[in-house]
Amino acid sequence: MGKFHRGGFENASPVVGDRTVLRPVAEADVDLLLRWHADPEVLGFWDGETFTHATMLVELARDDVTPYLVLADGEPVGYLQVWGGPEGGLDMFLAPDARGRGLGSDAGRAMARHLRDDRGWTRVTVDPYAWNEVAVRAWRNAGFVEVSCNEVDDEHLAPWVLMEFRDAAYPCQS
Ligand SMILES: CC(C)(COP(=O)(O)OP(=O)(O)OC[C@H]1O[C@@H](n2cnc3c(N)ncnc32)[C@H](O)[C@@H]1OP(=O)(O)O)[C@@H](O)C(=O)NCCC(=O)NCCS
Repeated sequence: MGKFHRGGFENASPVVGDRTVLRPVAEADVDLLLRWHADPEVLGFWDGETFTHATMLVELARDDVTPYLVLADGEPVGYLQVWGGPEGGLDMFLAPDARGRGLGSDAGRAMARHLRDDRGWTRVTVDPYAWNEVAVRAWRNAGFVEVSCNEVDDEHLAPWVLMEFRDAAYPCQS
């Protein structure tokens, strides 16, 4: 069996939001990630991509992608991955029973702020499908704004929306 290696930021450490904490994926999380990915409620949002233990290890070891587990009240509720940098983006899913409570927005905002404020990233984007109204709204709530509507391409099976993180870092003082 392959050996676990987490790709991405070598110095990745937990990122703290108001209601969630994101911590770098560890070897002990692999089985949970496999269970989540086997769930049709997750599969449908990840372009139907399925994983074996071996292919999950490859996925988690990609050089330019840092995988995080999303925790709420100390329990794993989802997965968020960061790719690229200093311009790059996020992908996320929550376990079905964790959705609809604002946890996704909280995690997305916390990570986008971390990339901008702690890592000096100049651009953080997300690319939800246009049909995924809940995701578009969640990213809006996290501080992302719609930049463009795009057609199917090599990386997207349906029309999609490019959104960029633009929350107010430093509110203007009157
Ligand atoms: C997208 C996702 C991460 C958002 O996280 P979340 O915590 O569920 O998001 P929120 O609770 O902030 O919900 C966002 C908005 O959608 C609404 N909403 C949530 N679930 C809904 C549902 N089932 N039906 C209708 N509206 C819903 C919320 O009320 C909220 O509305 P608001 O803008 O008026 O506040 C999460 O729903 C998820 O994992 N979905 C499946 C995977 C996915 O789509 N990933 C994103 C790929 S880009």
